[in-house]
Amino acid sequence: MCGIAGYVGPKPAVGIVFDQLKRLEYRGYDSAGIAVMEKDQIKVLKRAGKLKELGSLLEEHPSDAHLAIAHSRWATHGGPTDENAHPHYDAYEQIAIIHNGIIENYLELKEELLANGHKFRSQTDTEVAAHIIGEEYQRADSLEEAVKRGVKRLRGAYALVVVSKKEPGKIVAVRNASPLVIGLGKGENMLASDIPALLPYTREIIILEEDTIAVLEDDKVRLMDGDGRELPIKVQHVEWDVAAAERGGYEHFMLKEIHEQPEVIRQCMAGRIDEAEGIRFESIFSEHVWNEIDRVNIIACGTAYHAGLMGKHLFEKVLRLPTDVYYSSEFRYGDPVLSPKSLAIFVSQSGETADTLAALRLCKSRRIRTLGIVNVIGSSIARECDRTIFTQAGPEISVASTKAYTAQVLVLTLLALHIAQVQEAPGIRVEEWIEELLRLPEKAKAALDLESEVKEVAEECKNMPLCFFLGRGADAAVALEAALKLKEVAYVPTQESPAGEMKHGPLALVQPGVVSVFGATDPSTLDKVVSNMKEVQARGGAVIAITTQDDTTIQKAADRTLKVPSTPFEFLNAVLSIVPLQLFAYHVARLNNCEIDQPRNLAKSVTVE
Ligand code: AGP
Repeated sequence: MCGIAGYVGPKPAVGIVFDQLKRLEYRGYDSAGIAVMEKDQIKVLKRAGKLKELGSLLEEHPSDAHLAIAHSRWATHGGPTDENAHPHYDAYEQIAIIHNGIIENYLELKEELLANGHKFRSQTDTEVAAHIIGEEYQRADSLEEAVKRGVKRLRGAYALVVVSKKEPGKIVAVRNASPLVIGLGKGENMLASDIPALLPYTREIIILEEDTIAVLEDDKVRLMDGDGRELPIKVQHVEWDVAAAERGGYEHFMLKEIHEQPEVIRQCMAGRIDEAEGIRFESIFSEHVWNEIDRVNIIACGTAYHAGLMGKHLFEKVLRLPTDVYYSSEFRYGDPVLSPKSLAIFVSQSGETADTLAALRLCKSRRIRTLGIVNVIGSSIARECDRTIFTQAGPEISVASTKAYTAQVLVLTLLALHIAQVQEAPGIRVEEWIEELLRLPEKAKAALDLESEVKEVAEECKNMPLCFFLGRGADAAVALEAALKLKEVAYVPTQESPAGEMKHGPLALVQPGVVSVFGATDPSTLDKVVSNMKEVQARGGAVIAITTQDDTTIQKAADRTLKVPSTPFEFLNAVLSIVPLQLFAYHVARLNNCEIDQPRNLAKSVTVE
């Protein structure tokens, strides 16, 4: 996610906020900028690229200002360009704003503003927010009043920081789901999107609560709620070292990213679920294309391939659309038969995987429509696909992909429902799917609450010589991803297959000490899964089951049972089941003292064949 920094006090502000941004670099970004209060003028300096680009611009424009805000942007709306970099001015250039998160209703607000004569320099939702707050500022008696009124017109998850040339000693910030922390100093105060940026300057921290507005001046900080009522200030003394702080206090980025999944699910759906229009995507294929597509080929590697298998399950079940999933490396050397009316979907977190990029170029050479499902904006696959849907999962640091997988599966789910809407597919209860999807973040959080039980199971299994991952339907696809996690972070040999396949060979590997993890979240196949469990137990194998909270069958058969929240859709039950399985891989690896975030032999993005 983006980085936010701000300082007001007696020291030169530019050097401080630039240093704060450097301490947030690990979060990933593709442009950066700063707004400096020079007497009663706001000077905005910003550049696409890394901080060194901004640094050279700052050298050309030295400043001894005592108030500045700065931002490193992870592009969501609009590519990584100078114009799209933050800060952004309002229409009157009276205020400048920086922002983390997504303003879901920015398109409708932008249309209103354009109709009222506003001109925009960028493609960002942030600039729209700046114009909205700038409009309110014309009628308000303070910057905080303008922010209070302006955010009531915004929908989405965001952290906003605003400065005004009319009130040059003040920084106003507001948080709604996207984190903001305030650092208290002596005769100076500062803020950031994450604690590491503040630690060299202060350990007296205020974690800004939801829907709270903060007003920072050099000698005081005030907090107020959305109605302007003053709030008490709760200061925390932070003992973390910087490295721990970059992981948000988690021991590893992998664990941090597993726990980010409820928020990632929210961000991934932000702006894509509309009460009236249902599921929608910005700049995707027009409706006639969806009625013309006769086949879908999903092409990816590793975890992204496993997300593709979930997509296949759903496309065929919900849309009755023939769907194949290919390993990118196999696809490009397999001389595939491609229908001219087929759609090729390329799933990739990094957007730079060499085999997937090569497969994309093969499809384009055959004039096949191409759609990317990518996390990194501006990446090669994102740029070269005809259309791209961004997973909006934020930078994924750990080599083992977790939150990106969930976001990929979610985008494929939204896409299937969008196509179902367009095709008016019979029997698809899109409204009921939407209702359940909006509950998914909370259910993912409940799945995370299984962590203490998962730790106990990991303790019992940490020396297993082999681990089976088994399931039926969507659970079989999840089993492949769960197996990859355990392999790549804990180096445990695994055997993954559809549960019904056990008898056709893999069962020979079962013996005392071997663990079998069954995904059992589909009520329609539980009896069959119980039979498979008993086949394993009859040969001395231990059985762990992931099932749903309303299960009464599986728990009687398994040696250990972990229960995720139930949903009306077996597919979403399977989606939730990956959370305890990711935690299982993590805790087995941790108990075996593995190098979790940088596993041996692996890279985060495989940009070579
Ligand atoms: C997954 O945990 C691995 N990091 C790896 O399998 C990864 O999913 C694969 O290399 C594909 O990467 P991409 O999504 O960036 O294309």
